[in-house]
Amino acid sequence: MQVLNVVGAGRVGRSLARLWHQAGAVRLGGVCTRRTDSAADAVAFIGAGQALALDAMPPAALWLLAVPDSELAAVAETLAGRIDRGTVFHASGALTAAVLAPLAARGLATASAHPALSFAEPARAVREFAGTPVALEGDAAACQTLSALFAAIGGAPFPLAAAAKPGYHAACAIASNYAVVLADLALRTAQRAGLDAATARAVLAPLAGQSLANAFTLGPAAALTGPVARGDAATVALHLAGLDQVPADADAYRALGRLALQLAAPGLEPARIAAVHEALAR
Ligand SMILES: NC(=O)c1ccc[n+]([C@@H]2O[C@H](COP(=O)([O-])OP(=O)(O)OC[C@H]3O[C@@H](n4cnc5c(N)ncnc54)[C@H](OP(=O)(O)O)[C@@H]3O)[C@@H](O)[C@H]2O)c1
Repeated sequence: MQVLNVVGAGRVGRSLARLWHQAGAVRLGGVCTRRTDSAADAVAFIGAGQALALDAMPPAALWLLAVPDSELAAVAETLAGRIDRGTVFHASGALTAAVLAPLAARGLATASAHPALSFAEPARAVREFAGTPVALEGDAAACQTLSALFAAIGGAPFPLAAAAKPGYHAACAIASNYAVVLADLALRTAQRAGLDAATARAVLAPLAGQSLANAFTLGPAAALTGPVARGDAATVALHLAGLDQVPADADAYRALGRLALQLAAPGLEPARIAAVHEALAR
């Protein structure tokens, strides 16, 4: 069985290592982090492997570098002075395999493999990993190896061109992070209007969940409802009059309103489009 060394065993490193260990897909070798206590903690979570410093890691066919993006280049440089065979991959959504260039120059197969999942809570990420799309980018041999490795834990690998990674990652951030920011904006707006926190959550959670599900099943234009979709400029002005107490929130409403208007425009009369446009500009 192939040995996997893990450099960086925070949320992503420990979750993937545990999944591969549990699936019997690899034999865990060394686990290296910045602090020795976190490496020991990761080994306990994974249920295998040995907490080691980078220069004490055993030989391995597979190296997962799950360190923060800002650390990848330095770790790749250090590792390139030590190893000359195997497959090395990182999990960044934004960076490409090019950040592993010093290792590729030594003849190693290099790739990036980005699982489109939030690993905020590792135990939960392990439970919910099955079905997660994994964007693979890098050299062909590494992508082939990783495709089999991720498939072994129920991932859904797909190829992604290096040039597409920044845009792909921006899309993931909008869908994941900015959906959270929208939930916060909606909750704060409801609470400013006088709803208590529990009521605000009870009203808005199903509404947000249904709308997002509709956007992905029916398509965004068909899923869009509400004042902008109806061309109702008076209601848009009423909303903004309340939101103006918090200028940043009003600016966000205006920017999102303009995007909503673009989506709704094909179904609206020109006079209504102009009226909503004007209400959003005030
Ligand atoms: N979080 C997500 O949901 C998610 C999803 C997909 C992809 N990713 C990507 O996965 C990668 C890791 O993210 P993460 O969220 O797992 O980060 P994290 O939870 O902050 O964990 C980072 C790990 O790297 C270790 N580390 C930092 N610098 C190091 C160095 N120079 N040498 C060795 N180990 C070092 C840290 O050690 P200590 O524990 O001692 O600090 C920690 O174990 C990133 O490329 C990220 O973009 C993250």
